[in-house]
Formats: sequence, structure tokens, C-alpha cells
Amino acid sequence: MTIPRPERREPRPGTFTIDRDTGIAAHPALAGAAAWLRGELGAATGYDLAPRPPGPGTIVLALADPGGGLGPEDYRLAVDAGGARVEAVTPAGAFYGAQTLRQLLPAEAFRRAPLGAGPWILPAVRIEDGPRFPWRGCLLDVARNFMPKAEVLRFIDLLAMHKLNVLHLHLTDDQGWRVEIERHPRLTEVGAWRRESQMGWRGPGDGVPHGGFYTQRDIREIVAYAAARHITVVPEIDIPGHTQAAIAAYPELGNLGTPLEVATTWGVSQNVLNVEEATVRFFLDVFDEVLELFPSPYICVGGDECRKDQWRASPAAHRRIAELGLRDEEELQSWFIGRFDAYLADRGRRMVGWDEILEGGLAPGAVVASWRSLDGAVSGARAGHDVINCLNTSVYLDYRQSDHPDEPVPFGTVLTLAAVHAFDPVPGELDGAEARHVLGSTCCLWTELIDSGRRLDYMAFPRLAAFAEAMWSRGERDFEEFRSRLAPHLERLDAIGVEYRREDGPLPWQTRPGVPGRPEDLGRWLAHMAVETSNIRGGLT
Ligand code: ACM
Repeated sequence: MTIPRPERREPRPGTFTIDRDTGIAAHPALAGAAAWLRGELGAATGYDLAPRPPGPGTIVLALADPGGGLGPEDYRLAVDAGGARVEAVTPAGAFYGAQTLRQLLPAEAFRRAPLGAGPWILPAVRIEDGPRFPWRGCLLDVARNFMPKAEVLRFIDLLAMHKLNVLHLHLTDDQGWRVEIERHPRLTEVGAWRRESQMGWRGPGDGVPHGGFYTQRDIREIVAYAAARHITVVPEIDIPGHTQAAIAAYPELGNLGTPLEVATTWGVSQNVLNVEEATVRFFLDVFDEVLELFPSPYICVGGDECRKDQWRASPAAHRRIAELGLRDEEELQSWFIGRFDAYLADRGRRMVGWDEILEGGLAPGAVVASWRSLDGAVSGARAGHDVINCLNTSVYLDYRQSDHPDEPVPFGTVLTLAAVHAFDPVPGELDGAEARHVLGSTCCLWTELIDSGRRLDYMAFPRLAAFAEAMWSRGERDFEEFRSRLAPHLERLDAIGVEYRREDGPLPWQTRPGVPGRPEDLGRWLAHMAVETSNIRGGLT
């Protein structure tokens, strides 16, 4: 009864009981998964689960023969009266097998101290499992509302529990810069703090200063903690729009030559980077440090929602357009992104950008994160780019969970648990070869209206469990059958202390009466987004 649903699960007669004599026998290459399992089960049971050779009464983590039909993240799990055995060809596969093994135990296995619960009975079973998509991501926006490091580490554990493997950290935006850059210290000295925030969507200012950032050592810790759980942290430094916090720190990056403050209002700022060579060089410095901190093969440069009004009004931008032989401000944006595409490609990294990057030519290795409609996914895949389908109406977990007026700060279109579960990131119009460019999806938690871990839990869970199943599980999806597995899964989340949304809506303290949101009507919203993406439909501009 695990989530995400395994590909094949065959119950067998009998059980294996984990007790104080149980040991873990792991191939040396799988020592990380063994340490993780020992740490988690050891905390809940109070048992040592000491390393020991394979034999009766052990949990075995074995390296399988690479020719045996298992893919890189696949695993086999067998439990019988003599013990439990996980087999995989990689540490990641063994880790996922260990995650499933934990879910076979009672929900008490998710507590952090032994309460004398038990017995710790594993039902005999054979499971063969592996993911449908290689990219199973979650975006956490730590720019709008800073999430303390401890919150990020807790969230990583929850992603790993759901077999997600990418944490996309949205580190910079108009309202805050959250990563220390040694070469340009004012980015965090100034850019990490704002005077106040709007209450709800465009409500009154709250008068409360807000801020925070991760030091480079914090980032290294987050990256290592995630890596130990087979999660790649993909950093996003959003350029050339969504940059008011950087411009507040270094006004010479902007177009106005007048001081700005870190944005205190939500929505997309008009204040964008200028296109001088010094500004490009400034951000190349930033990326030099970002590449040192984040070993991820994928680096996100944002590229979304860059307002062009300041470039249109700027003699310097016009001069640049002429100097570079470009047609207009749209080409200026693609030239700007192209500089970073080339920089990353030269360093063996792949650029990820939101679907606006399709508005100009791209290096072949660039990856398109399609969010406004399916046009980015379809045009990107047809042009031979790998695609991550983050369709906002299907995977933006900051969107409201029902149309009930009590939903806290209702934003966007209604995105139910069932709709997330039903999401297929491969657009039906792609043929087989094109469809293979769809790597998967990243569900997104934008945090203008999510100001704490408690609110994050409410928006993320249990929809993130449904998303995980949409990304991981092969074969037909059955929402009612998922719901039957969700009931014991919620007990696991309760044991961890996750404040998920109840099926019948928010608890009284999860509501936010009087705080304005911005609910959207689906039909109106789809029509709006279709217009927005008409220039990338049916091929590249
Ligand atoms: C986005 O939601 N602006 C990518």
C-alpha cells in the first residue's frame, strides 16, 4: 500500500519481523542507502540494525547484475520469513527500494524516537519497480518567502520519501536574493532583506521586515544532504527579469540609474537588468560561484516574464540593439539568454530556462521548462530540446485546491488532488521520438502566499504524493485506488508531523479570512495563456 505505486507487487504468504537482532547486510557500493535505512528505522525502533554479513534475519541490500534487466533507478524488493532483500544496479535504485521497505512497516516507522511500538512486521511480498520519468522535480521558491535551511532539509526528506529526484531552488527574484555570492556581497547584504511584504495578493503592506539567505556553507550542506538522498539540487538565478533585488543591491545593473528597494509588492516588476557588457560579466561572476556550489548538470537561468518597457525607453538598450545587429527588444532578450547558454555549454552544464527562452534560438543542449501552456513543451520537443513539462494548471501547487471560499489566500485556477494525479507530462500530439524529449515534470511551490513551513505543508500535501505517482508509476492510473493507498500514507505524514490539507478542506487555523487572493477562472486563464504563448506555437520564432 505504498506511494508511489510500484509497478508490480505480488503479496506472498508469511511475514518477516524486524527486531533487535536484525542486521543490515549491504554491498559496499550501497553503504549510503544502508546508513539512511539504519538511521531512519533505528530512530523509530530503537534497534541498532548493525552491519552484518547476509544470512537469516537480515535486511540485504545487494548490487544486481547490470545485465539483469534493471534500469538505473529500478529495484527489486523481496520479503519472506527469512528476511528482506533489495536489489538494484545503482545506489539510487537501492535507496528507492529502502524507501519502499520503510513504507511496508506500520506508520510508526516514520517517528524519530522509539515509543515501544511494534512489532515491526513486514508482510512477505515481491516488488519490481522503477520510475516512468527520469526528471521528477519540485520547485521551492525561497526568494519570495525565505525558507530557513532547516525547513529546506526537512522538505528534502519529504521529496525523497516520494521518490522525487530534483529540487529546483528558485533562489533569486524581485523580492529577495537568497544565495551568498562572495564576489558581490551586497547581493545578500542588501538584496536578501525587504522592508515589508504585501498581505495576500496585493493587500496592504504588513510593515514587517522580511529576509534571510543561505551562506555558501549552508548551500553546500543542502546540496550534500540532497545528494545523499539521490536528489539533484538545480539552482535558479532568474535573469534578465525578476531581478529587482539584485538591482537594489547594485543599481548599476538596472536601467534607471536611480536607487530602488527590494520589491515589497507581488507581481512581476518592470525593473529588469540592463544589457551592458558589465552586467553580463557581473552575472557570469555570479554563475562562476553558483557552478562551484551546485554540481548539478542542469542550471536554471529563469528567462521568464522579462518586461521590456525599460529597454524600449532606454537609449543605451537601443544602442546595444544596433551594435549587436538585432531587430528589437525580443531579440535582445534571446541574445542575453544566449550568452549564458553558451557560457554553461562551455562548462559542460545544460541550461534550463522557462518557455520564454524559445522566443529566440537556443543551444542544442538547452532544456525548456514549459509552464504557460503546452506550446513550450510541444515546440521545444519538436525542435529537439529536452523538455520539463510544468504546466501551471496541472502542477503549480500554489494554486488553490478547491473552489471553496475557505481555501487560504486562494490563487490561480482550481488544482485538485485528482487533477494532479491524472497529469501526464507528455502532450498527446507528440510522436514517439518527440515524446522521448519529455524528461518529466517539476511541480512548483511559488511562495508569494506561502510564508512558512506550515503553509507549505498545506499547499504541498497530499498533492505532492499524487504528483510523485504521476511521475514515478508506470501503467494505468486509478484515482480511487490511489485514494485507498493515501489513507495509510496520511498516517505516515501524521507520524512525521506534516500538516497536510484534509480532504474536506482547511482546519480552522489553516484558513486566512480576509486576506485577499487572486482566484482565476480556468476558461479565462487558458485563453489568456494561449495568447501569451502564441509566438512559440507551431515552431520557433
Ligand atoms: C513562472 O511561473 N514565472 C515560471
